[in-house]
Amino acid sequence: MNRLYRSLVVIRAAAAFGAGLSGLAVSVNAAEPAQAAKPDVARGQAIATQVCAACHAADGNSAGAAFPKLAGQHAEYIVKQLKDYKTQPGAKAPARNNPIMAGIAGALSDQDMVNVAAYFASQNAKPNYARDKNDVALGQKIYRGGIADKGVPACAACHGATGMGIPVQYPRLSWQWGDYTVAQLNAFASGQRANSEPMHQISSRLNEAEMKAVADYIAGLH
Ligand code: HEC
Ligand code: HEC
Repeated sequence: MNRLYRSLVVIRAAAAFGAGLSGLAVSVNAAEPAQAAKPDVARGQAIATQVCAACHAADGNSAGAAFPKLAGQHAEYIVKQLKDYKTQPGAKAPARNNPIMAGIAGALSDQDMVNVAAYFASQNAKPNYARDKNDVALGQKIYRGGIADKGVPACAACHGATGMGIPVQYPRLSWQWGDYTVAQLNAFASGQRANSEPMHQISSRLNEAEMKAVADYIAGLH
């Protein structure tokens, strides 16, 4: 995706964001309980359609690797990420540093994070596939068995044999865009994404070819 398209998307989304959320906020704030209650999936869908769809698509199956797929991701993980994009009191930077998502997450109440996460979690992820046959053999080896002499554990140990993760603890990875997965592994390694010590350790031990191979395998995993 080129730069111009990217900034157009951002502008369009920002406009939709302002218009959509302010309207929604007025109608709901008065009735909103102080504590996060059960998810309101219908409200989550309204937020997804008006705010998130420009980048992640209305059903969470984003059109390309610039934006991660959210469809079928565990709700608790989505909520954690939205919180991690916000700068917490006393911190200099958010644990997960991304200017676009900082603005978006910063405008969501805790309850709306729960609502929109429940909506995306309820959507079906669309199948993806591995692009490069040579990569896939190495990727599968790393995913299933790790790299013993570098101290890299098997991804499957936490993310599961089919990449579905475990709700609350480990995110789903399967069918995610490969380039997005590589970008996250690099972000964990560099510390730009500082919200998981295990993933920092693991990513720091992978070279670029290994990251690409395992990400390509994950894209087709199910
Ligand atoms: C202008 C585009 C844009 C909009 C609108 C947008 N996002 Fe994002 N989102 C991104 C980008 C870019 C990333 C990847 C950022 C990174 O590398 O950390 C992302 C990442 C995320 C992630 C992390 C996913 C993962 O697998 O870890 C979540 C969760 C998320 N967005 C939720 C939302 C929700 C909910 C909304 C609507 C309220 C939304 N986003 C609106 C661009 C957008
Ligand atoms: C010890 C458990 C563990 C192992 C082993 C592990 N992970 Fe993770 N991984 C996690 C946790 C926990 C998170 C969520 C971090 C957070 O809260 O943001 C995560 C997040 C990720 C993400 C971010 C997903 C997203 O949507 O942004 C990617 C990509 C990832 N892991 C890839 C891998 C790969 C590839 C391997 C194997 C080389 C691996 N992980 C091994 C625990 C693990």
